[in-house]
Amino acid sequence: MKLLDSHEIRIDSWLSDAEERCLANDVLDGLTRPFKELPPKHFYDTRGSELFERICELPEYYPTRSEREILETQAEEIIRITGAGELVELGSGSADKARILLDAMAGAGTLSRYVPLDVSEQVVADAAKELVGDYDGLRVHGVIGDFERHLDRVPAAGESPRLVALLGGTIGNFPPGTRRALLRKIGALLGPRDRLLLGTDLVKDPAVIEAAYDDSEGVTAEFNRNVLHVINRELDADFSPEQFDHIAYFDRRYEWIEMRLRARRPCSVLIAGLGLRVEFAAGEELRTEISAKFTRARLEADFHAAGLALDRWFTDREQGFALSLACRPPQ
Ligand code: SAH
Ligand code: TRP
Repeated sequence: MKLLDSHEIRIDSWLSDAEERCLANDVLDGLTRPFKELPPKHFYDTRGSELFERICELPEYYPTRSEREILETQAEEIIRITGAGELVELGSGSADKARILLDAMAGAGTLSRYVPLDVSEQVVADAAKELVGDYDGLRVHGVIGDFERHLDRVPAAGESPRLVALLGGTIGNFPPGTRRALLRKIGALLGPRDRLLLGTDLVKDPAVIEAAYDDSEGVTAEFNRNVLHVINRELDADFSPEQFDHIAYFDRRYEWIEMRLRARRPCSVLIAGLGLRVEFAAGEELRTEISAKFTRARLEADFHAAGLALDRWFTDREQGFALSLACRPPQ
């Protein structure tokens, strides 16, 4: 469905009914397992996206600042190496980081198009409007969709090389096998001159990581509980979100942090839209997200398994976060 089409902005949406079905399937599948879990993309309705933007400004949440620092120091170099004139950003959110890359493209005289893809419609529409006002001659082709299912809806490349970005450590939200499969699918978008720009959080002191996902103001806790509000609204369920505690736990064996919601007391939840009743025992946990932390070796192994090759690796001064450029090696 075409939501908007002007000379500078075009926005296509591939969600709506299909997306509701996807939430329904994920809830049915995830809440009837012996260890309950849900995939992370359902946090991000309009309220969820706003809460995430607040997370990015929290003193404890270092990944946004670290990744921005790398972009600010390396964007010109990244554009010089790649010659990119087009930025495709998967999970673009508010597109704040994209601006740093778009500035570098404008500076190099290559800037032509920005293609944000996100499940959250409002953020893409708002970002598109602001960006075309701020960058002369920029075209924005937004895609409202799921990057696990709709990569084939990304418009064909134009003349100039393109950069396909997945920032914010979002790749770490997928377990290892799914992560490699997703990297392979993203790799299929790359022509010989194109590059993947991937942001990954790095392994560090577990206390620093846990604080980033359990801030003192409770914004992250509210973000985590937002998934229950989404299920209540979309699937006519009767969760009491405030009856669930937010848990953030760094698993040292796998080197990922897990977010969970723990039922304070036994509860029985009716998900009327699915005709499903789900029981929680006191203390029972629902896993809502993992966020894997990387080493360079782990990332190189993932790229290799996905048919990609690392060609540049940039970190912030504290070496807490990395931005990688990867390509599809010639056959
Ligand atoms: N790139 C931004 C936002 C990261 S948060 C940053 O680095 O700060 C993750 C973003 O990805 C959110 O905007 C969310 O709506 C989007 N997202 C999560 N899962 C998605 C999926 N499966 N398909 C498309 N977008 C997704
Ligand atoms: N991609 C982000 C990350 O892994 C998402 C995120 C940040 C998140 N804080 C969260 C997800 C808290 C769930 C709960 O860093």
